[in-house]
Amino acid sequence: MRFPVLTPQEAAEYFHNGDNVGLSGFTAPGAPKVIPGAIAEKAERLHAEGKPFKINIFSGASTSDKCDGVLARANAIGIRTPYQNLPDLRKRINAHDCHYFDLHLSELAQKFRYGFYGDLDIAIIEVSDIKDDGTAVVGFGVGNVPTYAKYAKKILLELNSKIEGKLYGLHDIYLPLDPPNRDVIPIFKPSDHVGSPVLKLDPEKIVGVVMSDSFEGVKAFTSPDETTNKIGANVCEFLINEMHAGRIPSTFLPIQSGVGNVANAVLYGLADAKEIPDFEMYTEVIQDAVIDLMKSGRIKYGSTSSLTVSNEVEQEIIDNIDFFKEKVVIRPVEISNNPEVIRRLGVIAMNTALEVDIFGNVNSTHVTGTKMMNGIGGSGDFARNAYISIFSCPSITKEGKISNIVPMVSHMDHSEHSVDVIVTDQGIADLRGKDPIQRANEIIDHCAHPMYRDLLRDYLKIGGETGGQTPHTLGAALSFHTAFLAGGDMRGADFSKFC
Ligand code: COA
Repeated sequence: MRFPVLTPQEAAEYFHNGDNVGLSGFTAPGAPKVIPGAIAEKAERLHAEGKPFKINIFSGASTSDKCDGVLARANAIGIRTPYQNLPDLRKRINAHDCHYFDLHLSELAQKFRYGFYGDLDIAIIEVSDIKDDGTAVVGFGVGNVPTYAKYAKKILLELNSKIEGKLYGLHDIYLPLDPPNRDVIPIFKPSDHVGSPVLKLDPEKIVGVVMSDSFEGVKAFTSPDETTNKIGANVCEFLINEMHAGRIPSTFLPIQSGVGNVANAVLYGLADAKEIPDFEMYTEVIQDAVIDLMKSGRIKYGSTSSLTVSNEVEQEIIDNIDFFKEKVVIRPVEISNNPEVIRRLGVIAMNTALEVDIFGNVNSTHVTGTKMMNGIGGSGDFARNAYISIFSCPSITKEGKISNIVPMVSHMDHSEHSVDVIVTDQGIADLRGKDPIQRANEIIDHCAHPMYRDLLRDYLKIGGETGGQTPHTLGAALSFHTAFLAGGDMRGADFSKFC
């Protein structure tokens, strides 16, 4: 190999306070595994000497504890985007130690290319292969790596022996031109390939290669509980009814689903439903359940930006890599989440909400309107452009102290205009073609937990007396949240003084 092999500590010397750093990958798989730890050690050393040191991290989505986790604990992240999901980083963000800006995942690469965020000083890219001419095969996640590779002034590679020589043929690397020269992205079905299996790097920019030797998968899922099973069953019931009504073709449409237990329950529910034909996915993450259903043949094909699977399943994929190369393509996130393609394919989007209001607006990111949870991720990319946009959540959380159906969301990520259907463990609210009061009644009657229905009806009644198309009473709109902050229970909301 023509590139110098470096220790993680030697690689860390390339990073300087204030650098903009691009990371490969999308969720933990595909993200760097060893260099960030050495950067964190360097940050701690410099901080102990009273010197400032923070880098700005631009990723594909979340990373892993070996990346965001170590850097957050060392307080070494200045700016972070576009998505994160680790408790240590969340604490830094909510304490303003780290400037986090949240945006639709499909937009980061192009906004970087448009020059909105400055130069990219250095990129860290996990590869499964690197040739002397700079031809690389990346890891289990792609994210924004084509853009970071092209724009970075320097590149450091992590060559992971766990996947070395195994992944050629799994990726479709495509970098669109920018306006006014953007062309059609010619994906007409999830399995269409439009780019290259390899990433072309400028060998002059590669300053070194660090060896790594680990999988960094996600935790295997806990067994679904009664609530997630009911949500899953309700989503399936809705989709089967749509198919019977002729609103979803009998050949079905590609599915997007998020990660987590609800997504798992829905996928297994769909797979068990005999009426539903074998189906495809056009999504941003593929999790263990999808791999399982690919093996059984229920899922025919999956387009994704990452194989977000557990370590055991990563090994299983490696052991059966030829089978999975026929079943999966891993794309840059601006393609996996591309609005043009999502709308063309008619993707059915299934995303998760923290809370939903009675008029159909969704909060996916901010606990009680203030504390950042994870970020909007790709939910908006899919919801806004979907054939049908479904949001699900439990009807209550924390033993009923929180109602996930509220009078007004405390923060809005997805407006009523991007939400067709709400599903909870209680049932299904079909909001299509309904005005605000009809939507409110549908959500209260079918999705709210019975212990909160009367309170929500009281709210709708006082608003109805005030008038307006969307009958809010502004002084009472956040009463559920203020009651929770004051007494730890939303059931303490009191509308009597507004009656
Ligand atoms: N108010 C306060 N806390 C709430 C809440 C609410 N309305 N709703 C849920 N929570 C808490 C839960 O109690 C739980 O807390 P815990 O960790 O202390 O138990 C936590 O939030 C997570 O809730 P959970 O019900 O387990 O949901 P989840 O793991 O499925 O995550 C989101 C839900 C919304 C946070 C998650 O889906 C997300 O980040 N979405 C945005 C990104 C996205 O949709 N990406 C697209 C596809 S990958």
